[in-house]
Amino acid sequence: MCGIVGYIGGKRAIDFLLDGLTKLEYRGYDSAGVAVNCGDNIFVEKAVGRLDSLKQKLKNNLPLGNIGIGHTRWATHGRPSDTNAHPHSDCHGKFFVVHNGIIENYLKLKQDLTAKGHKFISDTDTEVVAHLLEESYHGDFLLAVRDVISKIEGSYSLVFMSKENPDVLICAKQDNPLVVGIGENENFVASDIPAIISYTRKTYILNDGEIAIVQKDSVQFVNRQGLPINKKIFNVTWNAAAAEKGGYEHFMLKEIHEQPKAVRNTISPHIKNNSIHFDELNWNADFLKNIDKIYIVACGTAYHAGLVGKFYIEKLVRKLVEVDLASEFRYRAPIVDENTLVIVVSQSGETSDTLAALKESKRLGAKTLAVTNVVGSSIAREAEFVIHTAAGPEIAVASTKAYTTQLILMFMLALYMAQISKTVSDSDAERLIEQLKKIPAQISETLSDVEPIKTFAQIYGFNDDVFYIGRSLDYCVALEGALKLKEISYIHAEAYAAGELKHGTLALIVEGVPVIALATQKSVYEKTLSNIKEVKARDAIVIGIAAEGDTSLSNYLDHVIFVPETDELLIPLLAVVPLQLLAYYAAITRGCDVDKPRNLAKSVTVE
Ligand code: M6R
Repeated sequence: MCGIVGYIGGKRAIDFLLDGLTKLEYRGYDSAGVAVNCGDNIFVEKAVGRLDSLKQKLKNNLPLGNIGIGHTRWATHGRPSDTNAHPHSDCHGKFFVVHNGIIENYLKLKQDLTAKGHKFISDTDTEVVAHLLEESYHGDFLLAVRDVISKIEGSYSLVFMSKENPDVLICAKQDNPLVVGIGENENFVASDIPAIISYTRKTYILNDGEIAIVQKDSVQFVNRQGLPINKKIFNVTWNAAAAEKGGYEHFMLKEIHEQPKAVRNTISPHIKNNSIHFDELNWNADFLKNIDKIYIVACGTAYHAGLVGKFYIEKLVRKLVEVDLASEFRYRAPIVDENTLVIVVSQSGETSDTLAALKESKRLGAKTLAVTNVVGSSIAREAEFVIHTAAGPEIAVASTKAYTTQLILMFMLALYMAQISKTVSDSDAERLIEQLKKIPAQISETLSDVEPIKTFAQIYGFNDDVFYIGRSLDYCVALEGALKLKEISYIHAEAYAAGELKHGTLALIVEGVPVIALATQKSVYEKTLSNIKEVKARDAIVIGIAAEGDTSLSNYLDHVIFVPETDELLIPLLAVVPLQLLAYYAAITRGCDVDKPRNLAKSVTVE
């Protein structure tokens, strides 16, 4: 959730630093800072709050130096403040460092360094790194960095700048992303590709334990022991426009409308001759026979996608699936062994809890599969097997196209497993694939008329509480709809399994309370209808979400939003769309900062 940038070359470093940090704003932050080596002095400026505050401070005082580092911080150790903002320095201003992650042993290191006379000015774990470097430096910058790395424990991407070594930036990575962008007589460093794609597509993606020595016309890599590493260039295929808003008012709206394409791109590599293929898995019947337990582990929206994935696998493959929140899974001694398949789902591929759950599963001997949107992400590299959603970069904090692409990928995964284990008949598989192919066009159809949803959003946007109800897969979608509304509009929203209402929540349903009722699942339709009647009888204002062709619901409700008809396993991909739009327009009605909701960050790389 913090952002890192670095520049070395022939141009004014500050221009890239500010631009790169702007491109990383979506990651969430509460302060920002830069340090630029200007030869005789190191120029440092920091500001709490948005980047604009930093730019304001720099306005008439832009440093001219050609080497610099910058950072946007999301507070973990110490409150957001100018002092706690990065870059951090040692006692004498010789070394500057920016850091993403957490130094777990910083207190012990701080005590030792304080005893040696080092003076600390911030509350951060990062400052320890700068003082350690001062302590380790005896004329060889790289040697000193390697010594620092050997002493710190925890997760980090780090970029170091030295006053005495004005021709080099040194970077190190462990459990946090870091890339080096290759330019012409200039090189770039960033925690994420969007910071650099308008400058270069040629990148090196660092692996854990790697150290990069970045000069203006060369990049070299060594491991912690100082041995050279040969790395391949990774060519970024995203275009710069893909990371911008493309005419929409917000990234979230753009990403909602990108769903047909994102889902189509996710489907197309896996359908051949009317069956599902995953060349990257190449599983066979024996492999699946040996799996007696499946976990799906994730956070937030990805967890909600996992809940749907459970339905898919249990229904099509007839294997028991447990879905767990990554932050719970890793601490509750899960029953995992070599016959367990752990599927982790993560858009960013960098979520700290999910990564830790994955590592724990591997330690316990499980087979691991990552479902992620980011090629080369930490989770993608850590898992034994990886399959990718093709959502493209998702910038808005509120996840939308990542969710629908996760659903479709997990549907195809379940069908793939079912084909191998012969738990689905050929005719059923063919029928499902036919339905699957229609989904992108059906999402477009769902997106084609947003006007009624805007109207409902204006009504709901002024309420303090909204309830979502549904059964079976509708309940899973209700959870996601409620999360969307909460995170961007700050309206209190709760999702309930419709059958649970009478066990407590019905007490809250009184005249005028807004309820969104999903009734797309044919197998539980009558049951859902009776729950809808229960809330309607208490004079709640109910909006229904139903499949086209449903002629009953309108008899009971004033407002029904219809989505195209498809198999009930696939309808969550359509039913979620009006809920995403409702959350978006409710947030607009309330004047909220849709793409950067308060207290939240796009990528949660701390626990
Ligand atoms: O990158 P990940 O999919 O691992 O992220 C997981 C959650 O942090 C994420 O889905 C979060 O809940 C979103 N803000 C929801 O819109």
